[in-house]
Amino acid sequence: MENFDFYNKTKIVFGKDVENKAGEECRAIGSKVLLHYGGGSIKKSGLYDRVVKSLRDAGVDYVELAGVKPNPRLSLVKEGIQICRKENIDLILAVGGGSVIDSAKAIGVGVHYEGDVWDFYIGKVSPEKMLPLGVVLTIPAAGSEASPSSVISNEEVQLKKGLTNICLRPEFSLLNPELTYTLPDYQTACGITDMFAHVMERYFTTTKGVELSDRLCESVMKTVVHQAYRVLKDPSDYTARSEIMWAGTIAHNDMIGCGRSQDWSSHGIEHEISAIYDVAHGAGLAVVFPAWMKHVYKNNIGRFARFAHEVFNVDYDFEKPERTALEGIASLERFFKDIGMPVRLSEMDIDDRNIETMASKVTGNGTHTIGGFKELSKDDVKAILKLAL
Ligand code: NZQ
Ligand code: ZN
Repeated sequence: MENFDFYNKTKIVFGKDVENKAGEECRAIGSKVLLHYGGGSIKKSGLYDRVVKSLRDAGVDYVELAGVKPNPRLSLVKEGIQICRKENIDLILAVGGGSVIDSAKAIGVGVHYEGDVWDFYIGKVSPEKMLPLGVVLTIPAAGSEASPSSVISNEEVQLKKGLTNICLRPEFSLLNPELTYTLPDYQTACGITDMFAHVMERYFTTTKGVELSDRLCESVMKTVVHQAYRVLKDPSDYTARSEIMWAGTIAHNDMIGCGRSQDWSSHGIEHEISAIYDVAHGAGLAVVFPAWMKHVYKNNIGRFARFAHEVFNVDYDFEKPERTALEGIASLERFFKDIGMPVRLSEMDIDDRNIETMASKVTGNGTHTIGGFKELSKDDVKAILKLAL
């Protein structure tokens, strides 16, 4: 096991009706909130009314900023920064999914910085603090409710970039599985794919002697597969929704990634796809991950065979473990298809014309490699994207 620091300050409040605690949780931090949300699903479901009532009952003043789009945009972040400064906002309350939370995080770090907030995302400077952030989560997926990361799209230059810093962890996150009943099946499946991918990015490691986190990863993946079928069969199954919601947080708060090298090349490649084509992050991952696996599995056939056996119950072929490994990749593709995800770029109407551009962008014009499990050059990325066509 490698040395590690693990610090997660996010208070999780989980269960039915917890959104009604938004007011009291905010009140413990400040008296004026930026209420940040997306395209209207929270108004349709009635969640907006309950959150606003909770804020009012707790005597918390609020200013609203709606309109966060999936793959959240830099322009709205800049608007939010201006509002926070003008209104002397004490904290941000993000009500929504990864896009709303990530937008709130960007606003929260931007408020304290004189320059362009995009500087943080291109690595020019590091943030030192963020406005306190509270979350009411409506889609289990990105894991941003407890992660130290934010991903923002700069629409002017078609770039989507991530920022990771310990100060980006929220103060509190309220997780009510019932709020996810209204999710369209496609969004549920995108979320399931994303959380599964967050575990795989950690599972495919080069670090030896990490039995505990290997087994934790396998447990989360097995649970997600099992509960995914249940939740899509009955979207109002509270038990299944609860398991999926908690799995989404566990998959990405990095508890299961401690002490091990991680990969993250599939995420890097997917971000290039969603930067250009604005596809849902989970759907992009369903296409990229199997292609990445086909390209790299020979680096450690034993690990891929173990994945197949432990997560998808494939019989372990001790004579030819490569067969087991390949069956595992096929099982993953079948799982993604079963839950309604695309597994090829063509299913998202994406052809080969931007492969060169995407491979170039993710590797800094070929000046650096990506990936911890296997270092990938620009040519490797091109090969993966071709496998995904
Ligand atoms: O905008 P509204 O109306 O709220 O609709 C949203 C949106 O259209 C809808 N939705 C959310 N909850 C709902 C609902 N519809 C009905 N009922 C509900 N309960 O779902 C759509 C997708 O929402 P979004 O927030 O975009 O989903 P997700 O949580 O998957 O977030 C994706 C973003 O997170 C980033 C991704 O790159 C992408 O930009 N990620 C952030 C990470 C992080 N901060 O740690 C890590 C991830 O790997 C990921 O990169
Ligand atoms: Zn992700």
